[in-house]
Amino acid sequence: MGTTRRGPASPPQPIASRSVMVPKPTPKRFYGHGIPGVDLEKLSGKLIVIEGADGSGRSTQIARLVQWLEGCGHATVQVGLKRSTLVSEELERAKQGNILSHITMSLFYATDFADQLENIILPALKAGFMVLADRYIYTLMVRDLVRGMDEAWLKNVYGIALVPDAVFYLNVAPEQLVQRNFQKNHTLDYWESGMDVGLSRDMFDCFLQYQALVEKQFRRLQSTYGFTIVSGERSVEEINAELQEKIEVVLVGK
Ligand SMILES: Nc1ncnc2c1ncn2[C@@H]1O[C@H](COP(=O)(O)OP(=O)(O)OP(=O)(O)O)[C@@H](O)[C@H]1O
Ligand SMILES: [Mg+2]
Repeated sequence: MGTTRRGPASPPQPIASRSVMVPKPTPKRFYGHGIPGVDLEKLSGKLIVIEGADGSGRSTQIARLVQWLEGCGHATVQVGLKRSTLVSEELERAKQGNILSHITMSLFYATDFADQLENIILPALKAGFMVLADRYIYTLMVRDLVRGMDEAWLKNVYGIALVPDAVFYLNVAPEQLVQRNFQKNHTLDYWESGMDVGLSRDMFDCFLQYQALVEKQFRRLQSTYGFTIVSGERSVEEINAELQEKIEVVLVGK
């Protein structure tokens, strides 16, 4: 008859070349007052943050890290700015209208962050997930610092945040960022060019000046927050290999 005969089942193939690393739990803490009622000892997952300017390659790297981690048997969750169910749409509308003061806008972003922290990040860590954050409180603080806001006030607002297990800052020179953003979006973003700060009427010039100020603030905060600066001007594969190597160290709890 027309049935296809199958040969003997082939032996199972390994899913990934690396063995599954069970993340070793390490003590967690909040930067400041945190969220009340959270049992930090129960957060067995890991929070990995990828920071970097617009077009620095965060999405590219996170997509690869997710593939790698899931291939190793880890469940992953992704978070990022303006992704909360609570206020992301309203925040986008506020950005379009450019009607809010720096303080109100800052608190809007803080609300977006707090909602994700409480409803996604902490529950996922409790369930042992690897949480990959596409930017974190540092971008929010740096943007506000460049706009002259008070550092002590910002530290207090973001005292709510959990200290991540690792923070990687993809460092790419502003000139290179311009090229990548044009390649990707055929334009520069109004806010990421700091047009609201009024450094220049020319968007291209404004982008370069603004991104240089942002980078300076990032470097200043580095000593306080201890993030690892990773050169983002190499090939996608080279950057990813470095990130994987450093994340493996985090997984084994060092
Ligand atoms: N290492 C790299 N070398 C050259 N180009 C890169 C590299 N990594 C990413 N790119 C390219 O740069 C552009 C921006 O990358 P990507 O979208 O990953 O950055 P992003 O930081 O997530 O940007 P956004 O801030 O817009 O979310 C894309 O066109 C991408 O293909
Ligand atoms: Mg992106």
